[in-house]
Amino acid sequence: MSRPVLDDVENIKAVDKSNMINFCVNSAKLYREAAALADKIKVNYPKADNVIIAGMGGSGIGGDLLKDWARNQTAVPIEVNREYELPEYADKKTLVLITSYSGDTEESLSAFLDALKRKCMIFCVTSDGALLENAERLKVPHLRVPSGMPPRAALPYLFVPLLICMEKMGLVSGASEELSESFQLIQKISQDNAPEKSTIENFSKALALNIGQTSPVVYGFGFYRSVAMRFKQQFNENSKIPAKWEVFSELNHNEIVGWERAGKLGKCFSAIFLRDAEEPNAIQSRIEITRELVEQAGVGLMEIQAQGKSRLARMLSTVCIGDFTSVYLAVLHGVDPTPVKTINYLKETLKQNGVKEKVISELAKLS
Ligand code: F6R
Repeated sequence: MSRPVLDDVENIKAVDKSNMINFCVNSAKLYREAAALADKIKVNYPKADNVIIAGMGGSGIGGDLLKDWARNQTAVPIEVNREYELPEYADKKTLVLITSYSGDTEESLSAFLDALKRKCMIFCVTSDGALLENAERLKVPHLRVPSGMPPRAALPYLFVPLLICMEKMGLVSGASEELSESFQLIQKISQDNAPEKSTIENFSKALALNIGQTSPVVYGFGFYRSVAMRFKQQFNENSKIPAKWEVFSELNHNEIVGWERAGKLGKCFSAIFLRDAEEPNAIQSRIEITRELVEQAGVGLMEIQAQGKSRLARMLSTVCIGDFTSVYLAVLHGVDPTPVKTINYLKETLKQNGVKEKVISELAKLS
């Protein structure tokens, strides 16, 4: 009898040609290395009035995780900027964290230029590109992270430095303690979800099998907002499937009505609820009622129970489950998780409009 496709480690290796699963298996190590690197960050800025994190895709998600994590403890407003320009309020009292793994993302470079013009306090996290070149030349504080990874797999290097930078500036506290719990938990989760663990004992493999050919809809709440967003991005980029994310309780005010007339479409979706043993009562009731409504539409229901004590450990360990699941789902679909040829095509084709070139030449004029 042949083994289930996800229990055939050789098959996983054959489909996952560039070894994306390796980043999941080694994520605790990557987080630890990122923390050691971030420890070297030196920032001599005064305390900021507000914080803007500018980044896209796999680089921008670190900003959302930071915003959600810090929400219950920092007095400063945090915004994630995915526009070419910064919001009007950005000024010299604004801390702008520019994150771009490649250092060549048009929107991030444009936000960097805008931050320089507005004389904001800037800190860059990048591995290369025009961002690194200009940060070095203009002596803008920055952290160079190791290159050669797909940006979304470099999340530890793109997220942890933001956290440490904020902690060093006195804008948040407790990051270091929560990180050490996170590392331990991520290590355990990585072992439990590794390719060698069979479907029966491997939560991510089972989740991927349950999702099967459907399109996942990820429902988060509170600080799981950014976690749900990360799941969706990983399903898109690794599994190459349409996916979406929503957050409680907003989804109770629109999304649920959409399932009323789903008809045959209902079967094309699966809903993944991000749960937490300590979820507030108000949210718990909403999740339970929503589960029933979604089930009536024929949508498959799945749940992920967060593990860990601290907010950060719960967030990052759930992210880890999503990362594994998206890779196993890619394998089920027979697609290599690593290449993102559509993003590359878009970036290449966009070059013709000359926008990025103009931003880079404006940067070059600054001294
Ligand atoms: C690719 C990926 C993308 C990139 C995005 C921005 O792995 O995850 O979402 O992160 O296109 O590029 P960077 O991160 O280089 O600024």
